[in-house]
Amino acid sequence: MDNRPIGVFDSGLGGLTAVRELRLLLPNESIIYFGDTARVPYGTRSRETLLRYVKQDIGFLRTFDLKTVLVACGTASTTVLESVRGDYDLPIFGVVEPSAAAAVAASATGRIGLIGTPATVRSGAFERRVRQLNPETQVFSVPCPLLVPLVENGRTSPDDPVLQLVLEEYLAPLQAQNIDVLILGCTHYPLLSEAIARQMGPAVRLIDSGAAIAQYTAATLRQNGALAAGTDAGSLRCFVSDQPHDFARLASLFLRCDTEPEVSRVDIEQY
Ligand code: DGL
Repeated sequence: MDNRPIGVFDSGLGGLTAVRELRLLLPNESIIYFGDTARVPYGTRSRETLLRYVKQDIGFLRTFDLKTVLVACGTASTTVLESVRGDYDLPIFGVVEPSAAAAVAASATGRIGLIGTPATVRSGAFERRVRQLNPETQVFSVPCPLLVPLVENGRTSPDDPVLQLVLEEYLAPLQAQNIDVLILGCTHYPLLSEAIARQMGPAVRLIDSGAAIAQYTAATLRQNGALAAGTDAGSLRCFVSDQPHDFARLASLFLRCDTEPEVSRVDIEQY
């Protein structure tokens, strides 16, 4: 048993897709969330910049006594996680492994689509992992730079005309490839699941990278005997690097909670 909280970070709201699933699976775990809202988006940054950001994000989370850290960000997971993981003495999980495993298990035809940020698609990390798991698989990838700003501005409704137009352009090449599974390789994208599902149709199974990392974390903690003891509901504390108000409002919508979570501002450049 381990009652220490789980740390989770992302560039902004996207990592809440992992938090949502974690709270469903493990309601008595406490969570410390950091959203780097002053520096979102990550997906268009260079590797050097991302390395600095990720070290600061983990540095801030490490000011708490945590049992594990979730890199609930596709961009950070695919570009820099492997080079920093060894620098820390606690387990750090990313989204690639759990999402790739879920995609391979779900695909009957071996034709898998991937959407992600430009940095994620450029890294090739999802394709490598999928093809390690099943070398017969074909992966078709499309970078979608406009989706994160839309989510950060709350434009997630499937009826939003701007979102529909943008998705039409991004998803058309994947529809043409007859994929049967689509990896939402950025943790912001599950907030657009309804809109994406509407365009891709019922024959395409969506893999939610936020849910996948949460399921992987729950299974690993259970296996290692590291779940929180007791039956009290776990707490959620959120920190952001810019003004907290919009985040608190959107977070309560996305997490479907009646009350806004506690959100505080942190000066991330100090870490
Ligand atoms: N949600 C993150 C990801 O999964 C970050 C997106 C961004 O900031 O560009 O890639």
